[in-house]
Amino acid sequence: MISNMKNIDFYIDAIRSRAEEFHINEGRPLSYFIRTFGCQQNDNDSEISAGLLEHMSLEAAPNIEEADVVIFNTCSVRENADRRFYGNLGNLKTWRSEEKQRRIGVMGCMPGQDTHNSVLKESFPYIDFLLNAGDMGNLPRALYESSSQKKHSIVDLTDQAKEMTYPSLPVKRENKHRALISIMSGCNNFCTYCIVPYARGRESSRDPLVILAEARAAVDNGAKEIMLIGQNVNSYGNDMRSKGEKDFPSFARLIEEIARIPDLSVLRYMTSHPKDLSDELIEVIGKYETIEAHIHLPLQSGSNRLLKKMNRRYTAEHYLELVNKLRSARPGISISTDIIVGFPGETEEDFEDTLRLMETVKFDRAFTFIYSPRSGTPAADWSQNVSDLDIQERFERLLDLQNKHSVESNERCLGKNLYVLVSGLSKTDDETFSGRTKDDRLVNFSLPEESETDDQILTARGKPLSSTIADGSEVFVKITKAKAHSLEGVFVGLA
Ligand code: SAH
Ligand code: SF4
Ligand code: F3S
Repeated sequence: MISNMKNIDFYIDAIRSRAEEFHINEGRPLSYFIRTFGCQQNDNDSEISAGLLEHMSLEAAPNIEEADVVIFNTCSVRENADRRFYGNLGNLKTWRSEEKQRRIGVMGCMPGQDTHNSVLKESFPYIDFLLNAGDMGNLPRALYESSSQKKHSIVDLTDQAKEMTYPSLPVKRENKHRALISIMSGCNNFCTYCIVPYARGRESSRDPLVILAEARAAVDNGAKEIMLIGQNVNSYGNDMRSKGEKDFPSFARLIEEIARIPDLSVLRYMTSHPKDLSDELIEVIGKYETIEAHIHLPLQSGSNRLLKKMNRRYTAEHYLELVNKLRSARPGISISTDIIVGFPGETEEDFEDTLRLMETVKFDRAFTFIYSPRSGTPAADWSQNVSDLDIQERFERLLDLQNKHSVESNERCLGKNLYVLVSGLSKTDDETFSGRTKDDRLVNFSLPEESETDDQILTARGKPLSSTIADGSEVFVKITKAKAHSLEGVFVGLA
């Protein structure tokens, strides 16, 4: 497809023979470990990298120390993600020097940015290869070149195009029930605070037929849920249509096609940008039961002055209009959002505009972030006249208000029997299962007391998790408790 793609099979075959030779010589498989930071886009890129590595006969290691190849899939959307990664990388210097064949690769959103690229090369010269975000197609080549060298030097493939370079690659899914599918890469929006367009390049939409084939294959392999991902899924296809492909489908047409796949239970998608949320899409969201009763619609700020400075290209009024349209097209739809506090120049009035908008919309959930200057973005050069103390105080007021709304929203579920798609055992306790409702609420639930005689419950209780309630089970849960970030309940029956 793209020039280096004609060689991918060559690199795959070469690495596979080396991995097989290693297995024979060492009596154990060559192993890998991937540490992923950031958003679902990175999660999916890591799943594809793992799929490719296993396709080349490497096996997953239980932790970094026991792996032969370690890959960091990086994020730089806010400063704390940067810091955690550099800390991890610093710890690996000795590990890398202990065994000659060990390799360290860095991919994701950092290596392609000039500042990070130089820091990586200068401060961590023991790294073996650098790849752009989404460039899994070059992973076999990076591994090959870095293991063919006589003398160590960093193989830097970040000069390759940032746009998605693969049609379909092997994938090893993290969850059995949920298939993440990237429908596009990059972002054209250049919100003034955001590094993503610099890290991931311009929007580039994948072929709808390839996406559809991947979605069908995922469902055939047992996925109950599909999540379509892109930084701004609502502008899917704009790049192709502006290149003259008039019939390239819109996101509304694409999601409609996927929603019709038989045996698919829940179709999720993120992220939606308010400026591109069309009436056509709202209509489709209202029409298909399979499409989740939820939308993630980042607001960022309720102040028109700040929205303009952020280059978001919508107003608070337009946002409210969208919320109303969504709620009439799909009654009960849950709405989650992202909000930034402490954007340069944010006044108390700006902040109060945000609180007011939150009061009007009453978001079901919100992810709230303290503004983090990202070098290379326009806002990083703007003077920050809000003190850390004010930012912290605003952040807490915002959290308090959102927690109140989240609890109220969850309380509306009390006493109801809700459909839950199970993801497995709860993270904190092995008697409790976890899953999500169609409107994306996290539910932790247990099995009822022994006195229940329902056959289904007895079967579920007496058998190992894998053969009864497990990742991918569809159940009904009676909701007994509402918290800010989750619901609790009791298993009622299989859905
Ligand atoms: N494409 C998506 C997600 C981008 S990153 C979107 O447009 O919404 C996820 C969230 O991180 C953003 O919505 C924003 O709220 C937050 N974010 C991005 N850059 C940030 C920065 N420099 N400081 C603080 N939060 C930021
Ligand atoms: Fe960043 Fe804005 Fe693009 Fe989202 S839409 S990735 S916030 S530039
Ligand atoms: Fe982070 Fe890149 Fe995603 S910067 S949030 S991993 S697009």
